[in-house]
Formats: sequence, structure tokens, C-alpha cells
Amino acid sequence: MMFLKQYFVDLLNTYRIGKSVYSDAYFKRTAQLSVLENLKKPRRTTIINHLITVVNAQNYLEIGVRDPGKNFNRIQCKNKFSVDPGIEFEDNPVDFKMTSDTFFKKLNNDELEIKSNIKFDVIFIDGLHISDQVEKDILNSLNFIDDDGFIILHDCNPPSEYHQRETYNFMYSPARNFWNGTTWKALYKFRHANGLYSICFDCDWGVGVISKKQYPGFNTLKGDIENKFYEFSVLNEHRAQHLNLQSFENWITLLKD
Ligand SMILES: C[S@@+](CC[C@H](N)C(=O)[O-])C[C@H]1O[C@@H](n2cnc3c(N)ncnc32)[C@H](O)[C@@H]1O
Repeated sequence: MMFLKQYFVDLLNTYRIGKSVYSDAYFKRTAQLSVLENLKKPRRTTIINHLITVVNAQNYLEIGVRDPGKNFNRIQCKNKFSVDPGIEFEDNPVDFKMTSDTFFKKLNNDELEIKSNIKFDVIFIDGLHISDQVEKDILNSLNFIDDDGFIILHDCNPPSEYHQRETYNFMYSPARNFWNGTTWKALYKFRHANGLYSICFDCDWGVGVISKKQYPGFNTLKGDIENKFYEFSVLNEHRAQHLNLQSFENWITLLKD
């Protein structure tokens, strides 16, 4: 009898908590933000393919591929290379089945089929979305990117603090399964680097681009880091400036002028 009573108490509590969470204002607002972000165009693939034409790219590298049908296979470039340890997609049909750290270490030591003097024209960093790892991926990429080339970062513009949580696997935040991770922090940091220029296209969860060359619309943040503690609320208030958030369509027009 006690057992049955406890069962119904648990059931009632599950319903009450579930209902209050589901109707919570943060949940509703965040769900709206996810819908709005998903509606933005173009997607990363269009942007990458366009940047490939801008520099007449011969060598493309993608770090973090998952299902290649979603992006990698749609990239139009003469030579394409892919790196992924195969955490999220069992088949993992990539060239280099390893983490980006191992890939760059082996590339540096000439332990791969491609040689250490290779220059990539476009590198798409879309592996582990934790700022510390993204920073390493950017630093390594800078050694192998052509002087005119583009380093592209996915997921740089989290719509809410929940989208930029550190733990991907926690699906019960208001952002549910949508996840930017903390990639934005790496972009924001590198936006202060001398000799680097950047922009973030306001679509597909934020497509950040870093280059050694100052393309139209690309800029650098001068002076000390304003958002010293990398707080989401500060990003949210200043995201246009801190990320150099631009519409891709406007940027194409700027490039043509
Ligand atoms: C967001 S998915 C990539 C999506 C893909 N680029 C696209 O545009 O559809 C992230 C991928 O990064 C991979 N990954 C995780 N940690 C990594 C690491 N340290 N180095 C390289 N790839 C990593 C995962 O296995 C996963 O397949």
C-alpha cells in the first residue's frame, strides 16, 4: 500500500514539475530564440562555398565532420581533407580519424599523407565546441592557413546563455538539444589579436571568419578585452560589436564594391 502511495506521489510531482518547467518564461523565450535562429539564412555550406570562390581555394580542411552529407560532401573545392575522431557518427568516413590536436601534431611532424608545408585556403573549425579547444584549433590553423585564406568557426553566436552551456549532453536546459558551446569566447578573444581580422555572419548559429588579410567588413577589436570575465550578459548587450555581427548578403555587396 505504502509503495503504491509513493508511486502516485512521484507521478504527481513529475507532472507538476514538468508542467511548471514547460510553461516557464525562460523555456518559452529560449524555444522562440531557437526557432528564430533556425530560420536565418544562408547556412554554413553556402558561406563556405562562397569563401572558397573568393580565394579560388585549392585546399579545404574540415575539423569536426560528423555526417559528411550535411556539409563536407557539399563543399566544392579541388582538394578536401577531413578530421574527426568519430565521437558522434559511428561510420566516420573521414581522411584522418583522430582529434584535431593529434592531426596537427602529426602534420607538424610529417607523419601524415599530406606534408607539413601544405597551406589550406579555407579551414572550417567545427569540432569540440569548448573555447579552450577552439583556441587550440585556431592557433594550429594559423600555422597552415594561406595568407589570403579564411579560418571559419561554426556556432559563434549563441542566442541565449543556455545555448552556450558547456555541457552538450544536458538536454533539459531551455535550449534543449541546441548547443553552441563556448566557441564565441575563442572568436571574441582572437578578435583582439594584432594582425588578424574577423567577422561573424549572423546566420546558422553564427559563422565566424578569421583572416590574416583585412577583407572589406573584417575588423579587429582595439585595446583591452572589455568582457574580462567572458560573461554571456555582456556578449548579449554588445554582440554586434564584440562579434562584428554582419549580414552575409550585405557583406557580399560590400565585397563587390
Ligand atoms: C558539430 S559536429 C560537426 C558538424 C559538421 N561540421 C557539419 O557542418 O555538419 C562536431 C564533430 O566534431 C567532432 N569532434 C569532437 N571532438 C573533436 C576533436 N577534439 N577534434 C576533432 N573533431 C572533434 C565530433 O566527433 C563531431 O563529429
